[in-house]
Amino acid sequence: MRRRIIFSAFLALIASHCMAQQVNVNREIKTIEQQVGVMLKIVDTISAGPKGNLVEPRTLVNGKLKMVNSNDWTSGFFPGLLWYLYDYTGNSSYKGLAQKFNKRIEKEQFSKNTHDLGFMIYCSFGNGYRLTNDTAYRSILVQAAKSLSTRFNPMVGAIRSWDHHADAWQYPVIIDNMMNLELLFEATKLTGDSSYFKIAVQHANTTLKNHFRPDHSSYHVVDYNPANGKVNLKVTAQGYSNESAWARGQAWGLYGYTLCYRFTRNPVYLAQAEAIAKFILTNPNQTADLVPYWDYNAPNISDAPRDASAAAITASALYELGTYSKAGHYRQYADKILSSLTKNYRSPIGENAGFILLHSTGHLPAKSEIDVPINYADYYYLEALLRSKRMK
Ligand code: GLY
Repeated sequence: MRRRIIFSAFLALIASHCMAQQVNVNREIKTIEQQVGVMLKIVDTISAGPKGNLVEPRTLVNGKLKMVNSNDWTSGFFPGLLWYLYDYTGNSSYKGLAQKFNKRIEKEQFSKNTHDLGFMIYCSFGNGYRLTNDTAYRSILVQAAKSLSTRFNPMVGAIRSWDHHADAWQYPVIIDNMMNLELLFEATKLTGDSSYFKIAVQHANTTLKNHFRPDHSSYHVVDYNPANGKVNLKVTAQGYSNESAWARGQAWGLYGYTLCYRFTRNPVYLAQAEAIAKFILTNPNQTADLVPYWDYNAPNISDAPRDASAAAITASALYELGTYSKAGHYRQYADKILSSLTKNYRSPIGENAGFILLHSTGHLPAKSEIDVPINYADYYYLEALLRSKRMK
């Protein structure tokens, strides 16, 4: 009897511990709505002014909202955030706003000079199509997948990421590019044309072969010789060093292989996502609150800036991974990350031009966007909040 009482008390203790980590999603969404209201007012003053080509909010610079052109890699996140608000609240004013901000970046469906079309077009028009079945959005998604496919080289077996730094790299492929595969997989679902699916699978397989170290951390940039597909270099652009593990890169890899498993059910991708999750969650330099330093090998690590965006991307990926994996702990980790972000990384209401999360790091080596709010942190945070409710 005594044993049973002790065991019940133990279970209750665990349950109360888990309960403490549950975020109140309804309440959070209400505060996000308030912040978005603040941001929309500021956005209107900028995009209605002489800089009308600055169409989407990205970050804060010296406390002021920085807006970007439609061809910025982050241009799809704000419309995507508005779609998620429509998704959750059903409030049609968000639908109208999301359509308005989608329209501003619509022409990017034809861009062939960036690998970031998945981020730009899938987060905006992909969510829009999911929620409206608008056939015009369907055409935009398919056109964007066509444009992205032009960057695939069969000799390399991967999509080219960047065209810049031609003096340093011949055919750079970055781990972030895994995220753009979602657009290609979706295009095959929409059209029945398997060519997009095949490109996505080849890209994922080539990245699996060349981007990862034995501990399942990834390089940021792998440069290939496009004539024969051989690896020239494995280096970093946004991380601390070539051999370090840039925190957001690890999060992109985790999310990327999880989504590859969603579309293919290939157990190799599931195992890869699990291995990356293990690297992230058991890293000796991981923080107690699971919001990582910007690079797992940053110097003076306990003073290094955090990257809340990496945490938000990781939380969202872990919710999905938890629905596929036999390991039962991913959901709890995701809950813990969300709880940390909600408690300690949220902007006070009415401040920071309406951004939601503080303390992200965009590109530290370039001394750019250090310890700032940033649109993709907010997008994946909201996505994770929705997934915490829906992915069980
Ligand atoms: N895809 C660019 C970045 O994560 O900063």
